[in-house]
Amino acid sequence: MSLVASLSRLHVVVIAVWLSLDSGRAADAAAPDAGGATKVEAKVALDAKASQGYRLFDNNCAHCHGDDARGDEGPDLHGLKKSDQRIDKIIKEGIKGEMPAFGKKFNDGDVQALIAYLRTLKE
Ligand code: HEC
Repeated sequence: MSLVASLSRLHVVVIAVWLSLDSGRAADAAAPDAGGATKVEAKVALDAKASQGYRLFDNNCAHCHGDDARGDEGPDLHGLKKSDQRIDKIIKEGIKGEMPAFGKKFNDGDVQALIAYLRTLKE
């Protein structure tokens, strides 16, 4: 599977999890057992990915983007409008003269975890 295909699949999964979490709250209140376990598993999987991303961020990005990603030498990363593909490319290739490339340091799973973390940063 190509990188682009796997990233857009990840995107679909993330959106599906968000949707199920939102509609899930009301549904869970009405019928506590209906599908609850699957939703919890999906949320745990997403959280695990985002928290792996947070650890990578803390060790590799926070000294420029701030511990809370609110920006320092590098910009605030909350509410990014760029697509997953663009962010993937920025992380792997860096930005000439501004930000180092991490393509040799991180594998695709690491980069996807970082993106999962960045997507938790709302405005
Ligand atoms: C040496 C400092 C430095 C480090 C380390 C660094 N960045 Fe950056 N980053 C920057 C700067 C500066 C920019 C803005 C460059 C510009 O706008 O031209 C930037 C831009 C970005 C952008 C684009 C933001 C936007 O609004 O378009 C993303 C996403 C990003 N960095 C993520 C990361 C991640 C993830 C890491 C860690 C793996 C990281 N950066 C590590 C300095 C850094």
